[in-house]
Amino acid sequence: MSAAPILQVEDIAVTYSQLIPALRGVSLTVPSGAIVALLGGNGAGKTTTLKAVSNLIRAERGELTSGRIAYRGDAITDAAPWTLAERGLVQVLEGRRCFAHLSVEENLRLGAFVRRPDRADLEADLERIYGLFPRLKERRKALAGYTSGGEQQMVAIGRALMARPALVLLDEPSMGLAPQVVEEIFETVAALNRDDGVSFLLAEQNATIALRYAQSGYVLEGGRVVAHGKADALLELDALRDAYLGGGKPGTNGARAGSRRARAGVEGVGGAARSV
Ligand SMILES: Nc1ncnc2c1ncn2[C@@H]1O[C@H](COP(=O)(O)OP(=O)(O)OP(=O)(O)O)[C@@H](O)[C@H]1O
Ligand SMILES: [Mg+2]
Repeated sequence: MSAAPILQVEDIAVTYSQLIPALRGVSLTVPSGAIVALLGGNGAGKTTTLKAVSNLIRAERGELTSGRIAYRGDAITDAAPWTLAERGLVQVLEGRRCFAHLSVEENLRLGAFVRRPDRADLEADLERIYGLFPRLKERRKALAGYTSGGEQQMVAIGRALMARPALVLLDEPSMGLAPQVVEEIFETVAALNRDDGVSFLLAEQNATIALRYAQSGYVLEGGRVVAHGKADALLELDALRDAYLGGGKPGTNGARAGSRRARAGVEGVGGAARSV
């Protein structure tokens, strides 16, 4: 991992329609080559944070009212989303958005558009995606709208990967999917991270699975970071478990014993943000 973070979000505030505050004082860092989880319940501000980074909030009458966002050390606050994609920063939108009336393969091809690849390059990249998601190869001629939820999520991720990104903003990949499919998708994320050095900022309500794959995480509540730290310490945080892991059901993460020690190193939850 190189020393310079691939993404640095510093003290940002976002307001929708000039009056609805959605984020206040949010700061986070994605080290180069890392998987960082962005956790929180409904309406906590996860999607808004990702869209602030990719500059998609303006399309929803959102505005970054303060703060700074840097990608590979460069300020990107005013950068257009497509120029960010050209520079290797892509977002996979919540709800696995695909072009329903296009085939799986046509969806994937669209993802390469920002790179303007030649034919050989494009075919090689398609094969790479089919290697990661063999099911998409079987379904490549099917209309995306008629594929399963899991396959649509794979199409959405595959399309983002066709841009050959360095940083993927991945919004709730587990939403509405069976545990086995979720596992498959997270394993692919882990492989991309390990083998290709792709960094991820991963928004998830499912903290248990996100923290199994991420090295560190941030917890949002009401548009603020209420806790952040290393993944294993966050997993042991009682408050996090109660709020986002189903109240600490036995077997969800298998660790209650270390919670006091972990809490000592975690910032946040009920006061100023804690960190590990
Ligand atoms: N386009 C919008 N216009 C106005 N308010 C919005 C808009 N999008 C989100 N909000 C508000 O901003 C806050 C943060 O929403 P956001 O979608 O970022 O949360 P989230 O953590 O992604 O939630 P979820 O897990 O449900 O996807 C919420 O109060 C939400 O109602
Ligand atoms: Mg969301």
